[in-house]
Amino acid sequence: MRKHHKALLNWYDLKGRDLPWRAKGNQKTNPYHVWLSEIMLQQTTVVTVIPYFLSFIKKWPTVQALAQASLDDILHAWQGLGYYTRARNLYLCAKEIVNDYNSQFPCSSSELIKLPGIGPYTSKAIAAIAFNEQVLPIDGNIARILARLYAISTPLPEGMISIQNAAFEFTPELRPGDFAQAMMDLGASLCTSRSPVCLECPFRLICKAYAVGTQAGLPVKSKKPIRPKKYAVAYILKREDGAILLRKRPENGLLGGMMEIPTSKWSTTKLKMNDVPKNAPIAIDWESSSIEIKHSFTHFDLEIMIYSGNISMEKSQALEGFWVFPHQIGNYALPTLFKKIIEPSLKLIETH
Ligand code: ADE
Repeated sequence: MRKHHKALLNWYDLKGRDLPWRAKGNQKTNPYHVWLSEIMLQQTTVVTVIPYFLSFIKKWPTVQALAQASLDDILHAWQGLGYYTRARNLYLCAKEIVNDYNSQFPCSSSELIKLPGIGPYTSKAIAAIAFNEQVLPIDGNIARILARLYAISTPLPEGMISIQNAAFEFTPELRPGDFAQAMMDLGASLCTSRSPVCLECPFRLICKAYAVGTQAGLPVKSKKPIRPKKYAVAYILKREDGAILLRKRPENGLLGGMMEIPTSKWSTTKLKMNDVPKNAPIAIDWESSSIEIKHSFTHFDLEIMIYSGNISMEKSQALEGFWVFPHQIGNYALPTLFKKIIEPSLKLIETH
């Protein structure tokens, strides 16, 4: 093992984060824990993931238990983590592991990548951490470390090819799982994008960028395209007994199959006043609440205006969906966007 690998692993043994999916002391790494955490950590921070991870392993201690759960229960427990396709794939993957792999996770990245919800990054992360395959998953943090170590100044995404080559050359044979996790921790604590703490870094003697003082500017990124914006109206429809209308979204597409508050089409331009009744689930007098909700998805930002209206028991029968009383809403797996819409709306309803 090269000296700098040892320096990183020593640093990791002392300063690495104590995370609940990591094996402690002489414990063996649990592949189920590693897989579950890696799926949750896609697009979500460590701090957010920890309580969800702990609650999942308490409810479903093994992959068999998870495979026997109901999708509704899993979606419910996933509530608030976002990107719900991950939860659906988690369930599909658990079933596949149990049915086709005798409940044992395959141990190579080339097999893991064939499973639902496991892409190039996650397959390498699981193979390295759970099975010590000599691979390095490259996320933003690790790309930054490698760009600095090798002083790679080609702007991303083009620079990724050099970064991948560097990763291939740099990953050690011994303890590749700890090495990958040490790189993750280094990127999260010392080798940060804004103000790297180079004096404490185990790589300071071999870092090419540090040697010439260019570390803070690496990696170079190509100019970002402007994020598109979309607009919509949400319709809070209150039945005379106090229930409000929820619907199930179509299975395919964004937030597929999840419950929703009815909305207009999500359009690239703001809706005009007379588009509001046209897009509504029913023709009644809709009242503007002046409440505006902003929500970011991966590829666009959404701005939603909330409108509310009242409906009789009789008329409500013509509508498809679920009539839910405010105190029952917590029982439904609602995506964060719709929770954001409902919370201020319930206050509004109470005052009407
Ligand atoms: N981000 C993705 N996977 C991670 C892991 N195993 N530990 C810390 N951060 C991560």
